[in-house]
Amino acid sequence: SFVSTGEMTRKARREGYAVPAFNAENLEMAQAIIQAASREGSPVILQTTLPTARYWGMDEAVAVTASLAQEAPVPVALHLDHSNSFDEVMRAARAGYTSLMFDGSAMPYEENLRLTGRVVEAVRPMGLTVEAELGRVGGKEDSAAAPKAALTDPEEARAFAEETGVGLFAPAIGTAHGFYKGEPRLDFALLGEIRRLVSVPLVLHGGSGLPDGMIRRAIGLGIAKVNFATELRAAMTAAVWETMEGDREVIDPKKYLGRGREAVERLCVEKIRLCGSNGRA
Ligand code: 13P
Ligand code: ZN
Ligand code: NA
Repeated sequence: SFVSTGEMTRKARREGYAVPAFNAENLEMAQAIIQAASREGSPVILQTTLPTARYWGMDEAVAVTASLAQEAPVPVALHLDHSNSFDEVMRAARAGYTSLMFDGSAMPYEENLRLTGRVVEAVRPMGLTVEAELGRVGGKEDSAAAPKAALTDPEEARAFAEETGVGLFAPAIGTAHGFYKGEPRLDFALLGEIRRLVSVPLVLHGGSGLPDGMIRRAIGLGIAKVNFATELRAAMTAAVWETMEGDREVIDPKKYLGRGREAVERLCVEKIRLCGSNGRA
């Protein structure tokens, strides 16, 4: 079924697991993500950034995901990842995305608060869930400029979540997009404090490259959505390389993209089990 992210993540928070959110760059990755979730009986969030939505065509991304979701025996959401444009978020909502991130984390606090609240108001009648971020996750996501990481202040997070009425909240606790240079250092005490003060499900960005133990610990402290992007891209690309290097004569995209699809599906199964969302659909 094709649904929003609110109900599935609230259930995850209540029951102590997380719903994995996977970034899909193309049809094969979307198929792999939904196939893995279907096999594992897991709710799943498929997400695209704006550059990826443009690469697909926004309407095409919705049409493909909705079609795959309607055939799937598990709840599937389509979420717009990291957008800082009110107009683009509204365009995605009208196109049929079921969930939206308005990322005003690079803006001054007051502007982030005001615009996030405006998005929540605007999409509430459509039944869509809004994710917001406060503080700054490190690393670089698609074409966005690499920001300086800054941890979230728990009191500010509480006020922000209450005043905006968001359905999902992404704190910055030391994670970064992409693979990590050196050991990642997460502030678990801060996460626990934020969970105590913020009542909506919490989102962990920058899932790629985190040791399994850290992800499990974060879920134990209230994370109910974990984002994975870079590891899926890497799995797709490695499988395509391997297939092409193994046979320089290969010209049929079904051959190498098909291998890529299998590799992404295997990775998604691993991440679903790590999040503990298998059998929770
Ligand atoms: P990674 O690329 O580190 O998995 O981060 C994904 C993410 O946070 C998408 O919003
Ligand atoms: Zn992110
Ligand atoms: Na990461």
